[in-house]
Amino acid sequence: MRLRHALPSLLFLPCLLISPAQVAAANAPAPAPVPAPASAAPPAADIKPALRVLRDECVGCHKPGKAKGGLLLTTHEKMMKGGDNGVPLLPGKAAESLLYQLLLKDGDPHMPPKKDLTAPQITAIKTWIDSGASWDASVFDEAPAVRPVKLTAMPAGYQPVLALALSPDAKTLAVARANSVLLVDLGKPERPVSGRLEGHAEPVNALAWSRDGRSLVTGGFQKIITWDMTTRQQTRVITESLVGSITALVVDASGKTLFAADGETGGAGFLRRFDLASGKLLTTWKAHDDNVLSLRLSADGKLLLSGGADKMARLWNTENGTLKSFYEGHTNHVLSVAFNKDATRIATAGADREVKVWDVASREQDVSLGDKKIVFSGVDWTADGVSLAVITDKGTASVHTDLKKHVGEQRSETSREKRLTGVGEALTSVVITPDSKWVFAGSFEGRVHAWEVSSGKASEIKL
Ligand code: HEC
Repeated sequence: MRLRHALPSLLFLPCLLISPAQVAAANAPAPAPVPAPASAAPPAADIKPALRVLRDECVGCHKPGKAKGGLLLTTHEKMMKGGDNGVPLLPGKAAESLLYQLLLKDGDPHMPPKKDLTAPQITAIKTWIDSGASWDASVFDEAPAVRPVKLTAMPAGYQPVLALALSPDAKTLAVARANSVLLVDLGKPERPVSGRLEGHAEPVNALAWSRDGRSLVTGGFQKIITWDMTTRQQTRVITESLVGSITALVVDASGKTLFAADGETGGAGFLRRFDLASGKLLTTWKAHDDNVLSLRLSADGKLLLSGGADKMARLWNTENGTLKSFYEGHTNHVLSVAFNKDATRIATAGADREVKVWDVASREQDVSLGDKKIVFSGVDWTADGVSLAVITDKGTASVHTDLKKHVGEQRSETSREKRLTGVGEALTSVVITPDSKWVFAGSFEGRVHAWEVSSGKASEIKL
């Protein structure tokens, strides 16, 4: 038992002296530590720096579902329940606390396992424990600090189309392919590429037009660029506070506010509100327990819908960012979300191989599409609410109209379905034109397919 020597003050815990089987049995409620509210403790030390260390360096391996060493560090209560070796700290006594000892050079096992914390981080933990190890849950809802990341070149041949966005006049299709944005002119029969926006070094994951079609916003790794679409020049680059990839973008109805989703891979998903003209960050809030994968604005501009890797869809008031409702039922990532015309219904596409349609007010799921065999990677609803386009990671696509609500257990005839010819490659993003005549989808291999809905026939747009 490697931990024992590091634990002189905690040896009263019976589990350290007995066999693993007994450990499990004896491990139940760990004895409460006797707090030593040392009179020498510095008054009201700032505990946030230490909690940020736990949040950024430890919680990844000590959270529900991944409790290494049996230890959770997500709440004070869980932390004080302790891990396989009992309670990890003695408030007021850092030097005698495992949670501090393991951070030092000779910590065994050393924490975090494959890296050394900086001296200020270790000092922050020490000061925190010495001052009584109190808690401030709000720290865990803050967006993590921006970390400098060394970017490596994208592998040659990696050209995924990760986002599509149709201009409000439906004449230009913006295609995010690898780190470029291509502008396809849909007004001409041959659909030529009429422009290219270069400004990202990393793959572009998110695109959003303003409602007047004058600007396009593009999001890559820790970077948002706004473009004037008359001159096709950059108007602003936003990097402030952004962590990880920008996973979704939406410009509000007035064209003044930008909503962006970001977060570290596998970490919490944040929504941020920016003033578009100045690029100033107005607010940030934690929206999902895992990355936000999709974001939509209702037609009246009042509601924002987000889908996340935490299996949830959530509805927000755009005005103040408060949570209005949530939709729970997918058993895997919610990959894509869409509103109907008047935001009375929403569609969510899940990695659990199901598209669900929900009644917004009752939060009941009223339609389910798919036979649970294929992952649905995208949904788009026409603004008139007539047609719902759906794509899959197996290259199939379909358009659903006349979506009826479920009656009892009956699952058939929930909609009229128009199947589009399969293209045999994983599709990543979809748009349907406002007149319901065309569906465009981007693929992981870097192509954009166009289907004429009436015939179901596919053709490829030459990029
Ligand atoms: C990469 C994953 C990882 C990270 C990051 C990590 N830990 Fe751990 N931690 C582990 C593993 C694995 C164990 C069990 C080690 C063993 O038993 O040998 C463990 C055990 C522990 C224990 C002992 C629990 C017990 O009761 O046995 C403590 C205390 C602890 N970690 C604290 C921390 C702190 C504090 C941080 C952040 C500074 C941290 N860990 C970061 C993986 C991690």
